[in-house]
Amino acid sequence: MSHTPLRIVVGITGGIAAYKAVSVVREFVKDGHHVDVIATEAALQFVGRPTLEAISRNPVHVGLYDDVAQVRHVALGQQADVIVIAPATANTLAQFATGQAPDLLGNTVLARRGPLVVAPAMHTEMWDNPATQANIDTLLSRGVIVVGPGSGPLTGADVGVGRMSEPEEIVSAVYASVTTPVVQDLVGRKILITGGGTREPLDPVRYIGNRSSGKQAIALAQQALLRGAQVTLIAAHLEVPVPSGVSLVNVSTAAQMREAVLAHISTSDVVIMAAAISDYRVDHTSESKIKKSEHQGQLNLSLVENPDILKEISTHKFPEQVIVGFAAETTSGEELTSIAREKLQRKGCDYLVVNQVGWEQGFGTERNAVSVLASNGDILESATGTKLSVAGTILDCITKQPFQNA
Ligand code: CTP
Repeated sequence: MSHTPLRIVVGITGGIAAYKAVSVVREFVKDGHHVDVIATEAALQFVGRPTLEAISRNPVHVGLYDDVAQVRHVALGQQADVIVIAPATANTLAQFATGQAPDLLGNTVLARRGPLVVAPAMHTEMWDNPATQANIDTLLSRGVIVVGPGSGPLTGADVGVGRMSEPEEIVSAVYASVTTPVVQDLVGRKILITGGGTREPLDPVRYIGNRSSGKQAIALAQQALLRGAQVTLIAAHLEVPVPSGVSLVNVSTAAQMREAVLAHISTSDVVIMAAAISDYRVDHTSESKIKKSEHQGQLNLSLVENPDILKEISTHKFPEQVIVGFAAETTSGEELTSIAREKLQRKGCDYLVVNQVGWEQGFGTERNAVSVLASNGDILESATGTKLSVAGTILDCITKQPFQNA
């Protein structure tokens, strides 16, 4: 529970789970917070205004044109320490993702200054729909906190993903969103992060590349900055903007990545190798565009291995330096862990962050699921969540072990 009285806006939209929102409001009031309930017209089909007014001990706001003199459509959002939407329907999420404000709730969300927490509730098919998933990704990329949905019985006979999280979970997420302290445990530390995916040219037009977006590396850079570190990012073809405050070095090929890493290695306390670095390059890059007419139906490329940067820097590291490798694998479970342990030994790094990737998983998404292994192969932590929260877990693992030169 949070001890500072907060101004909390609870937005309730039109889904059967609206009845559970009453318990969310009740918890906040019980903890001494000021709660403004904004209900959509649809929400009032599921839960009555008198119930919400009695529980919140405040008038319930519904219409965009009520009390216009008080400029309620912006005031509620501006004044709120946090806004939570429970339940958030698929339609509501779509409106938020596209910045629409057809009603008082939409206006309030647009005008907010504090965090936004949403607790989606809908049928499994609606949740799985690519449109809803794209909207969730958009909201996550803007820092919106998404709680659930959980799995279980839905309205009618259905069972599956889409059930609104339990009120206690929603209440905890709201408190965490306003009270999570940022520990400044990396002040004075220099952190070198590699991110994105290298490209190995075949000719002036084409290259061999990979699907890494660089989002996990950017999240690591953001977290490290928040925790007081000086961050240098060696970036290969990022698909996302770099936060201000990061010292950026752009590279393209694995050879350029190696050169840039070696140029910064002696001044780095921590090196995090999150980039997807091409293991191979063509042994001869064509100076002109490769022509189809010169290759009767088949083109054979001869590839040579690139230097293993992680292995090289781990072999030559200073005793006090911390080197973190990444492993993206397409296997799962025990096999994934055993591949990770073998890779950890082969590379000789201090930590290895391992995650499962696939056609639909890992690359370019807003979320990640990783395990962090220590140099002896022990799993220190496993984390699932936004790439920003996963980055927090990775840095926690590194900082738990005190720096030897601290
Ligand atoms: N890496 C590196 N230099 C390379 C290739 C990879 O430093 N030439 C780093 C990556 O940045 C990552 C780690 O090594 O931190 C693991 O990369 P991965 O491609 O999974 O390792 P490989 O040794 O190439 O093993 P695999 O056969 O599974 O590709």
